[in-house]
Amino acid sequence: MTRVLYLEASPGKEASVTSRLANAFLDTYREKNPDHEIEHLPLFEVDLPNFGQEGARQKFENLGAVTAGKGPIEAQGEWAGVMAEVERLKRADKVLLSAPMWNFSIPWRLKQWIDVVAHIGVTVVVEPKDGGISYIGQITGRPLQMILASGSPYEMRFPLESDDKMDFQRAYLDRIFRFIGFSDIRLVKAQPTGMPAGPKRDALEAEWEKQVKQAAERF
Ligand SMILES: Cc1cc2nc3c(=O)[nH]c(=O)nc-3n(C[C@H](O)[C@H](O)[C@H](O)COP(=O)(O)O)c2cc1C
Repeated sequence: MTRVLYLEASPGKEASVTSRLANAFLDTYREKNPDHEIEHLPLFEVDLPNFGQEGARQKFENLGAVTAGKGPIEAQGEWAGVMAEVERLKRADKVLLSAPMWNFSIPWRLKQWIDVVAHIGVTVVVEPKDGGISYIGQITGRPLQMILASGSPYEMRFPLESDDKMDFQRAYLDRIFRFIGFSDIRLVKAQPTGMPAGPKRDALEAEWEKQVKQAAERF
């Protein structure tokens, strides 16, 4: 059974551009793959595991144990939540993420999910290499489709000091998912969603919808 994990990172529900586009994506995907299982994780509605003082301590305790060849630490306390979310991610054959830009970056609930699943010693293995260290992401062999939106338009490149507004949303998501092992990362970017209603806006909406449907055909 092929499993798709859908991470929804806007709280906007029906009013959300990214959730609406992700639903259009999933409608096309379901038509093509009626037997695939889709697990929906609405990040603003679910109780994400807490990751605080205990989790941060356990992260390094686990890294030390794994590095010393003793194997992972017991999944208890905050670390049990980490293990459960990492297992959910590992079960997924494909991942769909929809997320708005918030303050040039990502909504805090998505950052919480990332801080729960992205750990050296768990989703990234650390190995010595040429006198230094090499990081090997473990969540490999599955595509990630990102559907992102921002109120303003941003260049599709790493942000520069000279930019008035910096896109740390796309740059960060691309970096962190590559860090944990993803290499097939696909993007539909809806921008500028701040454009007021009218024919230009309608044309943009139609273009975003066309792009997500095409992306779903290939997913
Ligand atoms: C808290 C908050 C912060 C935002 N920050 C930015 C920003 O830094 N840059 C930008 O271009 N748009 C920003 N926006 C606009 C959203 O990215 C835009 O409205 C997007 O379409 C929202 O997606 P959604 O409808 O799927 O939630 C912000 C919106 C909110 C609610």
